[in-house]
Amino acid sequence: MPDETQQMTQKLPAEFDRRAFFTKIGLGSLGIAAAGTVVFTYEFLSPNVLFEPSAIVNVGKPENFAVNSVTMDVNSGIYLVRADEGFFALSAVCTHLGCLTAWNQDLGIIACPCHGSKFTRTGEKIEGPAPKPLPWLKTSVSDEGDLIVDRSIDIPPLQYLRI
Ligand code: FES
Repeated sequence: MPDETQQMTQKLPAEFDRRAFFTKIGLGSLGIAAAGTVVFTYEFLSPNVLFEPSAIVNVGKPENFAVNSVTMDVNSGIYLVRADEGFFALSAVCTHLGCLTAWNQDLGIIACPCHGSKFTRTGEKIEGPAPKPLPWLKTSVSDEGDLIVDRSIDIPPLQYLRI
């Protein structure tokens, strides 16, 4: 039968291992909490900036657009129309709930795929739930001779850009 000293010697490594284990767990928890604090502090101090594309769109040279053509720029959500009277730009965003409309060459209309609104190529509403016509956008010519559309400025309809 082992004496008391032998029992303590046998138990000591187990006690020591348990203490070391809990020490490591505690230090690990503190490390995770510190890392989380650093991450949240960094995110809190970082500016919440939303990078939006510019409202100014360079659509290119006027000679690239045939007379009586409707050209859609999907990326900027605009139509560049070259009519007999001159150039103009329309927003391609439906005035109902904001879906992107599409030019239907065969029917000669702009149609919204979401709820069926239809517009003429000058943006007037033909039918559907859209409450307003498609807005005309300010169009100008740059010093380099490129057509520039400013999506942030609506203009009254039928103001053609004559070049
Ligand atoms: S979003 Fe165009 S008709 Fe509803």
